[in-house]
Parts: sequence; C-alpha cells; structure tokens
Amino acid sequence: MQLSPFKLERFFAKYEFNTEYLLCSSDCESMSIVELLALEEDATERFHNQWLGYTESLGSPSLRKEIAGMYSTTQPEDVLVFSGANEAICLFMMAALNKNDHVIVHTPHYQSLSEVANAIGCETCAWQAREENGWSLNLDDLKSLIQLNTKAIIVNLPHNPTGYLMPRADFDALNRFAQENNLLLFSDEVYRESEYDPADRLPAAVDYGSHAVSLGVTSKTYGLAGLRIGWLATKNRDLYNKIASLKDYTTICNSAPSEFLAELAIRNRTKLAERNLKIIKHNLTIIDDLFSRYSSLFSWHRPKAGSMGFPKLLEGDVESFCDDLVKKAGVLLLPGSMYDDTRNHFRLGLGRKNLPQAVERLEHYISNRKS
Ligand SMILES: Cc1ncc(COP(=O)(O)O)c(C=O)c1O
Repeated sequence: MQLSPFKLERFFAKYEFNTEYLLCSSDCESMSIVELLALEEDATERFHNQWLGYTESLGSPSLRKEIAGMYSTTQPEDVLVFSGANEAICLFMMAALNKNDHVIVHTPHYQSLSEVANAIGCETCAWQAREENGWSLNLDDLKSLIQLNTKAIIVNLPHNPTGYLMPRADFDALNRFAQENNLLLFSDEVYRESEYDPADRLPAAVDYGSHAVSLGVTSKTYGLAGLRIGWLATKNRDLYNKIASLKDYTTICNSAPSEFLAELAIRNRTKLAERNLKIIKHNLTIIDDLFSRYSSLFSWHRPKAGSMGFPKLLEGDVESFCDDLVKKAGVLLLPGSMYDDTRNHFRLGLGRKNLPQAVERLEHYISNRKS
C-alpha cells in the first residue's frame, strides 16, 4: 500500500510548534491534566492508581460503555476504541474496501478520508460541496455519481473545513439511500456536539442501522487531542470484527492513562463542549467584524458548527498570502491547496483562546501590506 504524503499534516509539521499564532487549528482549546481531573472529586486519586499494563484491545469496557451512551441505540459491543480518529479511518478502509471498489467522498476533505482508499487501489470520486449554496451537499449530485461497483460513501458532518451541517431531512435521505442501495456510509462525526444551535445536531449515523459507521474522537469538540483517543461505532458485526483484528497490527491497544482520562472527559463532555463553544462564539464575533471591515478582501460562509471556516481571499494568491503572513507576522493560516482546493480559500480556526490577538496581528499585517 503506497500512501502519498499527508499534505496538511506535513504543513503542520513545519509550523505548528514554532509559530506564535495558530489561526487555522481544527481542534478547540485544550487543558491540562490537572484541570481535567478537577471535573470529578476523587479523579486524581483514581488516576494515580491507574494500572499501567496492557489494556483491552477493543477499548476498556467502562470507556466503551461511556461512548455507547453518546448515541441512542448503541451498546458497548458496537464501539471500538483507537489511538485517535485517524487510526480508525485507516483501519476502517483497510477492512471494508478492496482494490477496484468505487468510493464517493465528501469534498473538500481531510486527506485520509480518500487517501487510504486510493492506496488500496479503489477508485475515489468527489461528492463536491457547493460553495454557492453554503458548502452544501446535493443528493442528486450523489445519485449521479453511483456506479455498479460503488461500495461506500464517506461524509464528514459537521464538516472540516467549511463548518457545513446537513439539514436533518437530507441526512435521513442519505441514510435511506445508502441502505436501499446496499452501500456503507462512513460518517466522520469528529466535530459532533459543536453545533452552534443544538437544534441543528444530526443523529449519529450509527443510529440509522448497520449500513453505517460513526467516527468520534476526544480531539476536536472536547479539546483533548493529546489523549489520542478516537472510536468507531457500528452495528455491522462482520465489519467490526475485521477492523478489530487489523488493530493487532497497529497499536494493539490504547494507552491506559488516556483511556482513563477519555472516560472522565466523555462523562463530563457537556461541560467541555460548552466551554469550547463559548470560545468559538466569542471568536466568531471578532471574525464577523473583521470580515465585514475587509469585505473586499475576504468572503465566506459562516459555519454552523465546529471550530473552523473556509473563507476565500479575493485579492492575490492565497499560498503567497499565507506564506508571507507566517513569515512576517507569525500568524498561521492554512492554504486551501492542502485540500486540493484551487479557488483561493484558506482554513481559519475558531477554537483557540488567543484568536483575538492573532486577528490583531493579521489586521496589522493587512494594513501594512496596503500602505
Ligand atoms: C475530519 C477529521 N477526521 C479525522 C481527524 C483525525 O483526528 P485525530 O487527529 O484526532 O486522529 C481530523 C483531524 O483533524 C479531522 O479533521
């Protein structure tokens, strides 16, 4: 299997730990272990007594129970825990797909959502989000992409990088369509529970039936990327067992301290999500204000969920803009080319506390550039 370099991850490898302001992060503001443990009275003592032997390969029973409780109809045995969401994507694809399968992928997308399928020898095609319509996905477009050898549809809702959230009726129809056509629906839901209006929250795909696989993680909405705990939930036993047996060749089992902390985080996830949504909503007011003052330079569709948006630079080339900005102002924006976007977009992160200072620097850079 030949995997191409992961453009976005290579880009972050170059800048993430040496740039003052990350204005394009996909995750929310994190916290220390001390802050996380403070969420429950006796958690510090329990954490100190955490046994450091191997853990159960599927994920600890108590963590899987906590994760199953995030959905409406799942049981702990429907949940499989990984070292982050990316491992789960990789192993799902290795278990579910074969050479020459046709796979339809919500586009633009986080690269691994198509790259692993490509490396397996699948034919992937783009279900292109329509920018002119708020980055929406059109079900007729999907239907026109179906082939005899189509095996799976991959979606990411809420969406990285646009913050798009599908209307409920469309998501119901998408699930019906996958079921009726015997297709797998892989639903990357790592930004779930970060909807700005909770009424917009979609049901998890796993709750629609065994055609679906839901992906979750502690990294994004809950701001705990360093735990490296992600999971899949599916009622498809055959697929579940295949994925579980592949894990023996990657991480075997997860980090015991991380599983402990992830369980604690998920039990308290409403508080974590509320904290991070407060940061995002405050940051959005600053961004709205910036974009209204610079409407000839930027355009965008305001996200409905999640910790990022995908604005467009209206003057000049976005790669040179991002490159010059990071060099001169120490502010990192992610050019859309990392998503193979050719229309001058860039990714803007909304989940970090220092966004106001980063925007101040950005604005200073823009005014200097003009003068
Ligand atoms: C849509 C999407 N899926 C999966 C992942 C992988 O998550 P993790 O880094 O926690 O493995 C990311 C990370 O940016 C993502 O944005």
